[in-house]
Amino acid sequence: MNPITRDEMIKLLNEDLAREYQAIIAYVVYSQTIKGAKFQHIAKELEKHAKEELDHAIKVAKQIDYLNGKPVTEPKPVKVSDKAEDMLHFDMDNERTTLVQYRQRIQQAEAMGEFALSEVLREIVVQEQEHLTDLANALGIDNPKIEAPKPDDAKNEGVNTNGEKSATPKGETPKTENPPASSPKNQKGGKK
Ligand SMILES: [Fe+2]
Ligand SMILES: [Fe+2]
Repeated sequence: MNPITRDEMIKLLNEDLAREYQAIIAYVVYSQTIKGAKFQHIAKELEKHAKEELDHAIKVAKQIDYLNGKPVTEPKPVKVSDKAEDMLHFDMDNERTTLVQYRQRIQQAEAMGEFALSEVLREIVVQEQEHLTDLANALGIDNPKIEAPKPDDAKNEGVNTNGEKSATPKGETPKTENPPASSPKNQKGGKK
């Protein structure tokens, strides 16, 4: 994998930072507005998430500054809803996108030889994964599968940014390690 430039890394980290701001705002608002007895436990969890996202934002901004970049000030847009389930789904979609992006960023940082950066991102990714699990548990669903970025995709920022579970067109084999039961493993022509 060809290393990306320092300027490209700054740009990508600023996208990550804007996503962290988005997460802080979403968790602050959702944790205080989510209603219903069965969501009281997750409301407390969301408060914790908000604080962890602030910690991530500071770490990412520090890395941007280290690379001589300027940290952005605008968050990605935050969706709102009156329904608790909607809020939790918005959070889960955001966490999934965040995980995909940080996994790429780690590979990109290592390709650049920026091992301290990759170390910081690895610490963040552990917490993002916990956030995703908390949300999936609250919704009573399985942890969503995260598509592992291929090294070739690492230059593309926009992998699965809409947070949809599958961006694969109908009839094509999804690019996951475990194909669903409906797509036989031995089928020819499937991409690995
Ligand atoms: Fe975060
Ligand atoms: Fe998170």
